[in-house]
Amino acid sequence: MVARKVTLPDIRTAKETGRKLVMVTAYDYPFGRMADEAGVDIVLVGDSLGMVVMGLDGTVEVTMEHMIHHIRAVMRGCRRPLVVGDMPFMSYNTSIRDAIVNAGRLVKEGGCEVVKLEGGTDFAPTVAAIVKAGIPVQGHIGLTPQTASALGGFKLQGKDVAAAQKVIGDARALEDAGVFSIILEAVPAPLGKLVAQAVDVPVIGIGAGPDVDGQVLVTHDMIGLFDKFVPKFVKQYANIRPVILEALGQYKSDVQSGAFPASGHSFTMPDETLSALKVKFEKK
Ligand code: KIV
Repeated sequence: MVARKVTLPDIRTAKETGRKLVMVTAYDYPFGRMADEAGVDIVLVGDSLGMVVMGLDGTVEVTMEHMIHHIRAVMRGCRRPLVVGDMPFMSYNTSIRDAIVNAGRLVKEGGCEVVKLEGGTDFAPTVAAIVKAGIPVQGHIGLTPQTASALGGFKLQGKDVAAAQKVIGDARALEDAGVFSIILEAVPAPLGKLVAQAVDVPVIGIGAGPDVDGQVLVTHDMIGLFDKFVPKFVKQYANIRPVILEALGQYKSDVQSGAFPASGHSFTMPDETLSALKVKFEKK
């Protein structure tokens, strides 16, 4: 682990030396800080915030303004990890010019170092143009949540020979276009291994098995903060929702019983000030 800011060469070197990369999502200052303190390599301000923070059914409604707002909050807490800003649906799909302008906004207005976008071969020219404009890009292939409905829902990808070949072709096209890394989501573990072997850039898996160059999880899934559903590929390292519910319930009963606030949570006032006020305002 490097003590200074994680750089793109560090990410590249990790694959060369066989060090697994650790990536998580964060959407605000406290989680950005905790990810930093935990020593992860990469923090993704993902458009998954639409689901786990905003309560939407998917990610397509997430806007550039949402992303910039959350990236700015995360950046205030993240010093060491590389921070990736996710490009929301339709911020890069309409034209290469739009893609460059919006990638630039995430970096200039949000403050993140690099951007991520979903799509393989079809988006290689877009990736190449953003990279040429000076903004490093992370690819995202396999299951691509923004276009999940076109893929038949949130389903495992690359299951037959043709589909698996397409995933490998997508990875190679993105590498040729200049990505510094690729997220590979929801594919069989053996395909994950083949994709990682097919390219020199690090392949970071989410539901892609153990034989890739690193792992990413949505933090809210991993700590039990999002309870609508938990994908099969998630390991829950904590279950903090019941802890929060317990605290809120105790607070409610303390307020109702008068146990909170106690004297230790209250401010005092000099006696003479109080006496003067009482003379004027105390109800007889
Ligand atoms: O938005 C997100 O959190 C993602 C991860 C699932 C990789 O894209």
